[in-house]
Amino acid sequence: MVVFNEISTVDEWVTNKKKEGRSIGFVPTMGALHKGHIALVEQARRENDLVVCSIFVNPIQFNNKEDLKKYPRTLDSDLEKLDDAGCDAVFSPDAEEMYPAGHPDKIYDFGQLNKVMEGRFRQGHFNGVAIVVKKLFDIVQPHRAYFGEKDFQQLQVVRSLVKQEKSDVQVIGCPTVREADGLAMSSRNTRLTKAQRREAPRIYQALVKAREMYPELPVEQIKDQIRDTINASPELELEYAEIVHPDTLLPVTRSHRNTSAVACVAAYAGKVRLIDNMHLNS
Ligand code: PAF
Repeated sequence: MVVFNEISTVDEWVTNKKKEGRSIGFVPTMGALHKGHIALVEQARRENDLVVCSIFVNPIQFNNKEDLKKYPRTLDSDLEKLDDAGCDAVFSPDAEEMYPAGHPDKIYDFGQLNKVMEGRFRQGHFNGVAIVVKKLFDIVQPHRAYFGEKDFQQLQVVRSLVKQEKSDVQVIGCPTVREADGLAMSSRNTRLTKAQRREAPRIYQALVKAREMYPELPVEQIKDQIRDTINASPELELEYAEIVHPDTLLPVTRSHRNTSAVACVAAYAGKVRLIDNMHLNS
């Protein structure tokens, strides 16, 4: 596995491999890798000749300075895990390499996709994600790029970005990987106290219950159940629970077996913000 820190060197490597006719699968990450990331690498491995992974804690997608400061950084063990998973190349730049002119001023318009949930509670977050993903796609020039469905809204934003930019990168969403007790794997889980970690699977339990309730019961009742299940723990506090159409992210107001819906949740465990989601009729 080769590791690059500079755009010019990874760009040259990728260009040569593409000239040889090899397909490139790309897994963008912010490091602190867990089994969810490794599942993305493994899928990319199966579907492409070569796998490139990026590790970059993108400062411009954090709307909360403390979250950026506390974001776990575990480069050495990340590289070991990627090597074991069969990744071929890693791009791990610093912020100066990615943004030599400082914070880029490009503003994307994702319409409804950026108006609700993460877009509403984390102002500027998806614009920062879009800027870095576009830049990484330009550098790595992948055939396919792999994103976890845990960040469901991000996945839809990236799909919209690719359309807007008329990019030919194929965006592939991969199922959320969960701990044995249902908690969605996340780099932020390492910051949970023992008590928070014990209670955090309530988020998953609330979503499973929501799936059982849909489409028999009204949407508002399902949302109340999610809120009550999560807030029943003194360790957790719900930020939002929404039931939306998976493609448009418009609110689903009436549950119906023919109406696709996904329940999306954000909750705080102390200062750690956790998100999760579940398709309700699949
Ligand atoms: O999902 C993430 O880890 C990040 O948002 C991404 C896609 C790597 C962009 O920084």
